[in-house]
Amino acid sequence: MIVILISGRGSNMQALLDAGLPVSAVISNVAGAKGLDVAAARGVPTRVVEHKRFATREAFDAALAAAIDEFRPRLVALAGFMRVLTPGFVARYRGRLLNIHPSLLPEFPGLHTHERALRAGAKRHGCTVHFVTADLDHGPIVIQAALPVREDDTPETLAARVLRQEHVIYPRAVRWFLDGKLVIEGGRVRVEGEKAGKDAQMVVAAD
Ligand code: GRF
Repeated sequence: MIVILISGRGSNMQALLDAGLPVSAVISNVAGAKGLDVAAARGVPTRVVEHKRFATREAFDAALAAAIDEFRPRLVALAGFMRVLTPGFVARYRGRLLNIHPSLLPEFPGLHTHERALRAGAKRHGCTVHFVTADLDHGPIVIQAALPVREDDTPETLAARVLRQEHVIYPRAVRWFLDGKLVIEGGRVRVEGEKAGKDAQMVVAAD
């Protein structure tokens, strides 16, 4: 049902597995990624498609797509997958490619989001699950979690609290997707069956 793409630790992958979601395979672009061991220990098939073995992004993405399609997933979930995907790849999985990003998009797309939030003096920070489009970190937003930035936060303490929320919102978004509840209309995502006014798509954490 779901193929998860990772590059490293795989804690978001683990949160999806812990939620009991039907994961068909985990694929990494990095051999030896820690998440691969976690997946294998749970009996989930794993594959490695190393980007560095390919001369172009297009060639890598074609090999990655071939590995994914072997499992015929309904959903491809990026979970700490640190490669920019080609427009062709994104188009192939249009509407069934989700990502988790450690900021409140559209603020702080790209890397080093926690450092940048602190440097900007942001009073709140968070994470976002969104559909992937060719525009990096800019696709339709499914759900966000926000939390207050503390005066004594470091990038590490802030990252740890944001990560806790990532593990809350990603399984929720994936469940909605598999239940067929996510509707994209004019670039916005609505969750079918959720009561208006009860904002399921915005988690506000106290800490
Ligand atoms: C997470 O913060 C995720 O939002 C970002 O990369 C990190 C991956 O962590 N894209 P993990 O591999 O899921 O533990």
